[in-house]
Amino acid sequence: EKGGFEHFMLKEIFEQPKSIADCMRGRLKAETGHLVLGGIREYAHKLDKAERIIIVACGTSWHAGLVAEYIFEDWCRIPVEVEYASEFRYRNPIINEGDIVIAISQSGETADTLAAIELAKSKGAIIFGVCNVVGSSIARLTHEGAYTHAGPEIGVASTKAFTAQLTVLGMMALKLGLRRGTLKESKFHELLVELESIPAKVEKALKSDSLIKKISEKFKDSKNFLYLGRGYNFPVALEGALKLKEISYIHAEGYPAAEMKHGPIALIDEEMPVVFIATQDSSYEKIVSNIQEVKARKGKVIAIVTEGDEIIPQMADYTIEVPATTEELMPLVSVIPLQLLSYHIAVMRDCNVDQPRNLAKSVTVE
Ligand code: M6R
Repeated sequence: EKGGFEHFMLKEIFEQPKSIADCMRGRLKAETGHLVLGGIREYAHKLDKAERIIIVACGTSWHAGLVAEYIFEDWCRIPVEVEYASEFRYRNPIINEGDIVIAISQSGETADTLAAIELAKSKGAIIFGVCNVVGSSIARLTHEGAYTHAGPEIGVASTKAFTAQLTVLGMMALKLGLRRGTLKESKFHELLVELESIPAKVEKALKSDSLIKKISEKFKDSKNFLYLGRGYNFPVALEGALKLKEISYIHAEGYPAAEMKHGPIALIDEEMPVVFIATQDSSYEKIVSNIQEVKARKGKVIAIVTEGDEIIPQMADYTIEVPATTEELMPLVSVIPLQLLSYHIAVMRDCNVDQPRNLAKSVTVE
């Protein structure tokens, strides 16, 4: 049932070209400009008029929410807040008429996310769900929503569910941006084409597997890791760090690269691997100088770069290329090498990759 792979996690990582395509199947066709999310109908006009979006989720799903924040603000010009469900539920959150809540959950059973939805509902909010497990508690509790259709995810570390969440949230934002008139039709079409090309790009990114395995060998005994990214790649840095800590038990932190000089830079010495997600986007030059800052302090740099980059490979100790895409969609591609890096390091450390200690696939207690 692992389809010839040694672990479910690896199988699920390699399934992503297909699971992302499955997520778009019947919903998106760039050629004709078709984009329909069947599960969002009756309340679609509420989304159209949304004055604020509040995203509630935990863990990796919360990271998908952070990417969605940037996307919704960019394409739809709606202010977005991303909340840890566990914090949201115990505050006295302000929910106004015209606010929309989006709950993101792979399992659809996460206790804190469920409780956050119940609270928001009791305050009159309309809730959209982005779930993977069909018929799950969260899917039933939300007013409407869109399934991620990634197929069963068995490994405790979320991989294909994350990229499917990004795909659904991207489609929601595209649709909404077009309907609200905040996304130009020409840009909408360009983005449809780009989204449709993502499975092929993920397939290409997966080809770095053996290179990543070699890099993993060098760092398997490291005690700490820092992950840095800017803009759309900042949530990817958080996600990369979470993947590593949960399955390899190596301490890792994700940060926005610019925050480095506000504290974490003190950690950098020759023992500190720093993973930069440094693809060619609007913050490229800024991240290049962050890489220089780390190298000046003898940190070891592993850089995720856009194919053909000629500058960063001269500075970094190790470089992993991913295909180019528009910056809003880059997390779908740039997360792939980080999933593989954590996987190989965990295997080399003899960790139980699919069922890491102290963790459960769905966290049904708070
Ligand atoms: O099922 P959910 O998406 O609600 O789960 C949320 C988190 O528990 C989950 O993403 C967790 O952080 C994963 N183990 C991360 O890989």
